Order: sequence, then C-alpha cells, then structure tokens
Amino acid sequence: MSAALHSDISLIPQVSGHLIGSGGKRFRPLLLMAAAALCGYQGERRHPLAAVIEFIHTSTLLHDDVIDNADMRRGKTAANHVWGNAASVLVGDFLYSEAFRLMTEHGDMEIIRVLARATNLMAGGEVFQLMKKGDPEITEADHLTIIEKKTSHLISAACTVGGLLAGAPAGQIAALGRFGLDLGFAFQIIDDALDYTASADEFGKAIGKDLAEGKMTLPLIRTLQNCPAAERQMIVEIIRDQDRDETSLQVVFSIVQRHDGIPYALNMAQNYIEAGKNQLEVFSDSSPRRDLMVLADYVVTRKF
Ligand code: IPE
Ligand code: IPE
Ligand code: MG
Ligand code: MG
Repeated sequence: MSAALHSDISLIPQVSGHLIGSGGKRFRPLLLMAAAALCGYQGERRHPLAAVIEFIHTSTLLHDDVIDNADMRRGKTAANHVWGNAASVLVGDFLYSEAFRLMTEHGDMEIIRVLARATNLMAGGEVFQLMKKGDPEITEADHLTIIEKKTSHLISAACTVGGLLAGAPAGQIAALGRFGLDLGFAFQIIDDALDYTASADEFGKAIGKDLAEGKMTLPLIRTLQNCPAAERQMIVEIIRDQDRDETSLQVVFSIVQRHDGIPYALNMAQNYIEAGKNQLEVFSDSSPRRDLMVLADYVVTRKF
C-alpha cells in the first residue's frame, strides 16, 4: 500500500497517509488472503489485490466522512476536518483510480469485473441512502438494500477475488461470494448497533452520529415499528426537525433503549453470520477455513 502511495504531489501522501497510517482493521484484505489460501493460492498477486480492495474501501471512507460530516475516523480527527472537504474528495478519487490502475496490472478480466461491479453498487447504495436520509417511513427492506449495496458487495468481492486468484471451481467461488455477502450484512448491522452502544475511544468514531445526522438504522427502524404511537410520533418529529438538539436526541436514545431495537439488530447480525458460515460447508476442514470462521465470529464480537 505504501509503495502505491508515492506521489510528488505532497497533499496526496499527506491525506492518504493520515488515514491509512491509522490502520483500521484491514478486514477486507484479510478476507481476500484467507479466501485465496482456502482455495490453495499462495502466489504474489494476493498482495497487490489485497491493497486494491483496501484502497477502494479507504477512498469510500474519505468520501463518506465528507457526506456524513464525520469528526473522527480510526481514532483520529477525520481528514475532512484537517484538510477540508475538497482535499478528501479529491484524494479519495486518487485512491479509487489507483485501485483501478493496480487491478488492471495484477487482476484479470473477471477480477476487474467483480471489483468494478462492487464499486458501482457501493456508489449506488450511498446515493440511495442519501435519498432516504431523515425519512422516518423507511422500511427495513429498503434499509437492508442500502446495506447490501454500500457494504456487503465489497466484502463479498474480497472473498470472491480470493477464489478467482486460485482459479477455484465456480461453485466454490459462488459460495465464497455468498459468505462475504452475509458477513457484509452482519458487519454493517453491528457497526450501526455500535453507533448506539460503543465507547468512542474503543470504536475510534464518534457515537450517536447516525441519529444526529438523521440516518435511520436498524435499532431505530425496529423501534419505530414496535413502540407505542405516542413515542413513534415523538421520534418522527425529532427526526424531521432540522434543528434537533442534544436533548431531543437523548429522548430518541432513551426510547430506543426501552425497546428491543438493539438486541433485534444483534440477533439479525448473528443470523447472517450463521448463514455465512454454513456457506463454507462446501469446503473441507482446513486451517484457512477455520481462519474464515474466526473472521466471521469476529464481526459480531468486535468493539471497534
Ligand atoms: C467502516 O468500515 C465502514 C463500514 C462499512 C461500517 P471498517 O469498520 O472496516 O473500517 P476500518 O477500515 O476498520 O477503519
Ligand atoms: C461507511 O458507511 C461507508 C460505506 C460503507 C460506503 P457508514 O457511514 O455507515 O460507516 P461509518 O460509521 O461512517 O464508518
Ligand atoms: Mg459514515
Ligand atoms: Mg455513510
């Protein structure tokens, strides 16, 4: 990754180095490496393609923090608050294009097709989410569509590319893709639950951001479905109020805590993880298969 980030335009390594240097979990490259190992590939192309998947992810984070007006990312001040929105958008574009340049060098047509599709779905998911922002009528189905597009397909692509690198049979590649898709749903659902329950220090991002931005996620959508009409009315008014303050956000928080939105989300994530692990049944037991199982379980136990 650092080799690909050299540029004589100093702002590029500055902004990208700020974000990439703070680490993150590197969850998607880990999945790619483990999926490749599971299908018997240990060759050199794993590394640039693992970097590609992380670059695509990192560029979406730069863009996402502009869209969500985030203050904190990976435990540090978000790049948009250090260098401004324009720099974040442009360096995000640089990372995107760097990812595509690298994949033409190290991928093949099928790998490029999978990664291009995932990237395109992701952008569509972000636009759909923007359309639904602040809409208290959003359905659980629409919300899951957003998650699938913005998060699941990239995680799925990481797993698929691992199989493609190995030249694995189509059935195995499809199983890896479905495994990644299930993990992706669980990953985002847990991330959204952590926005209600985590500690900012551990999570590395500010808590309560989704609600503050009017972003309806599963704990709140579920609460709206099940709470009494009076509470529902209160939440709807607060979500629709552009000038909602900290006190009214606390009101929504306490209503969510009183109902089952958070355990409901955690349970749904756990079900996705079980379904994902079942997809790996087509592989016989091996050390990389156990690694993928551990990564799957990690999704629902993570605190950051
Ligand atoms: C954050 O992704 C965005 C979501 C899809 C929730 P990660 O949680 O993988 O972020 P890093 O890379 O570890 O910081
Ligand atoms: C992260 O989404 C970006 C994408 C998945 C494209 P979120 O906005 O839900 O995640 P965080 O909380 O900022 O990491
Ligand atoms: Mg965000
Ligand atoms: Mg976002």
